[in-house]
Amino acid sequence: MSATDYAVRAEGLRKRYAEKKTAGGGAYKLALDGFDLAVRAGTVHGLLGPNGAGKTTAVRALATLLRFDGGRAEVAGVDVARDPRLVRRRIGLAGQYAAVDEVMTGRQNLEMFGRLFHLGGRRAKARAGELLERFDLVDAADKSVGAYSGGMRRRLDLAASMILAPRVLFLDEPTTGLDPRGRGEVWDAVRALVAGGTTVLLTTQYLEEADKLASRITVIDRGRAIADDTPDGLKNRVGGDRVEVVVARAADLAAAARVIARVSVTEPETDEVALRAHAQVDDRVAALTEVARTLQDEGIAVEDIGLRRPSLDDVFLRLTGHRAELEAAA
Ligand SMILES: Nc1ncnc2c1ncn2[C@@H]1O[C@H](COP(=O)(O)OP(=O)(O)O)[C@@H](O)[C@H]1O
Ligand SMILES: [Mg+2]
Repeated sequence: MSATDYAVRAEGLRKRYAEKKTAGGGAYKLALDGFDLAVRAGTVHGLLGPNGAGKTTAVRALATLLRFDGGRAEVAGVDVARDPRLVRRRIGLAGQYAAVDEVMTGRQNLEMFGRLFHLGGRRAKARAGELLERFDLVDAADKSVGAYSGGMRRRLDLAASMILAPRVLFLDEPTTGLDPRGRGEVWDAVRALVAGGTTVLLTTQYLEEADKLASRITVIDRGRAIADDTPDGLKNRVGGDRVEVVVARAADLAAAARVIARVSVTEPETDEVALRAHAQVDDRVAALTEVARTLQDEGIAVEDIGLRRPSLDDVFLRLTGHRAELEAAA
């Protein structure tokens, strides 16, 4: 396999931040701690991890916006530390927060970005027209962005990051904060990008999103890649659907777990605070029906019952033995 099969490669990347609140200095936060990544050209690669795992730091380091302290990285065939300017010409970056102007229309925004990138008036116009079409924004093109839905804004942000048709596009949590519809719209836009030949590195906190879009997923925890696999491979390791029961009375929790155990393929886990018991099942609907019926027969009052797909939390529990340590939002 030659190096050019990969659009992004990182080996042993390290990045440390000075700890903000320490008096006297000398304390560091290792945001990247020997991070490895290999993204095949022409694919969507998911970088999956909880808040604070190091996703944004990794993307910013690869996109040359942040200098790293150790390791090496290559993007679009160029060494990031050696030639950041050339890297910048070959990449695009879109983030959680759109940099578009609210008052201007979508078309005006894209034309402005085109001119910012020295495209010249006519080419900027033509490129804006192409991108509006590509991201399904033709009908909204001449409305001011202030009136756009969240999904439309995010698509406009994607379009803006594509002005120069980059070979590699970094998308940092492009759907965080969007409703399901907006999320679906962004997913369609990402698929269209990759069909057009762009390589996408997409960070996300949602296993479902990585599963839907990516052909490979790297799981990041505390600045390190702790798994690198296909979505199916990852899901196989994590396990399938779970039956979950929330009981009304704490005294019933153990009994509910025993009921679940009759149909589950894993030992039920219980959460005494949430009064929840859950375990993995094979035949999801049959298992749910059986559990519901037995609980009723035994007179166990149920607050909630349902099927749950594996979440990022489940991934972490399986891979690391600990729950994702979500950092409190600043
Ligand atoms: N500018 C900064 N100064 C100090 N610590 C930072 C800074 N940016 C991020 N961090 C810390 O580095 C770690 C990784 O952060 P980040 O890359 O933003 O993670 P993610 O994008 O996965 O949420 C976190 O512990 C975060 O608090
Ligand atoms: Mg982030």
